[in-house]
Amino acid sequence: MNHESLPLAGKRALITGSSNGIGEAIARAFAAAGAMCIIHGRDREKVERVAMDVGGESVLGDLAERGSPARIVAELAARGGLDILVNNAGFEEHSTVADLAADDYARVLEVNLVAPAALMSLCLPLLRRGTDPSIINITSIHETVPVSGNGAYASAKAGLASLTRTAAVELGPEGIRVNTIAPGAIKTEMNRELIEAVGAEKFEQWIPMGRVGVPEEVADVAVFLASRAARYITGSSMVVDGGYSNHLVRYGEPR
Ligand SMILES: NC(=O)c1ccc[n+]([C@@H]2O[C@H](COP(=O)([O-])OP(=O)(O)OC[C@H]3O[C@@H](n4cnc5c(N)ncnc54)[C@H](OP(=O)(O)O)[C@@H]3O)[C@@H](O)[C@H]2O)c1
Repeated sequence: MNHESLPLAGKRALITGSSNGIGEAIARAFAAAGAMCIIHGRDREKVERVAMDVGGESVLGDLAERGSPARIVAELAARGGLDILVNNAGFEEHSTVADLAADDYARVLEVNLVAPAALMSLCLPLLRRGTDPSIINITSIHETVPVSGNGAYASAKAGLASLTRTAAVELGPEGIRVNTIAPGAIKTEMNRELIEAVGAEKFEQWIPMGRVGVPEEVADVAVFLASRAARYITGSSMVVDGGYSNHLVRYGEPR
């Protein structure tokens, strides 16, 4: 395959939280598809390692800090344009609604919703000058499916899904597509402890396809959504969960 025929040839992509897990897999898949990737995270060593591997650039920034999205976009705008934004960075903090502390809730919202919203807005001037521009927001099956103790994260992801649909309506006339990918249980650092605590075998019984997913299975969908193959798809949510969210038995026996 020559470079020109690669699905993301000539594209420049910012993938937040690409120093690890799903974001790293998206960056590797985008690079293999011909894109120039900007790797982002907080840990300089991890960010630079992935950037070197994919022949991309790096940018640092803690998305829990309100000024971070503006600093990140200013830095990458000084270096070039942008065709694809993937809002992938995120984290979970567990607490029931009864015990939810306002500061903890605000931090979860900041990283999982406020920062992605700011990045969408701040990146628009660059995306407007891009080629077949597109935004992909990584949410979670918990945007629609509740689980006890995960309300902060779930409500942030639901907010991001809603904002995605609004942005798709607003930006459709300009040809900028905005979609979400809602992963189920994917094997990364984020849920390693949970899977270990439940027991991998038991966990996998809850998933119709009988196994936890791998980051590359989310990354392949991201390549599709960012490519011309998805040129008429906007405001959509692609669930990548091996059937998990359709299964009645989750996190224990049915009640
Ligand atoms: N794994 C799953 O089963 C699953 C399921 C549904 C949805 N998701 C979503 O998929 C996305 C990626 O998750 P993952 O499983 O790949 O997680 P992960 O392995 O823990 O990686 C998280 C990434 O986000 C970055 N990040 C976290 N907090 C940040 C902050 N405050 N500022 C800047 N960067 C930050 C991390 O960067 P540093 O390490 O450099 O700080 C890292 O690159 C998240 O949005 C998550 O909610 C995951």
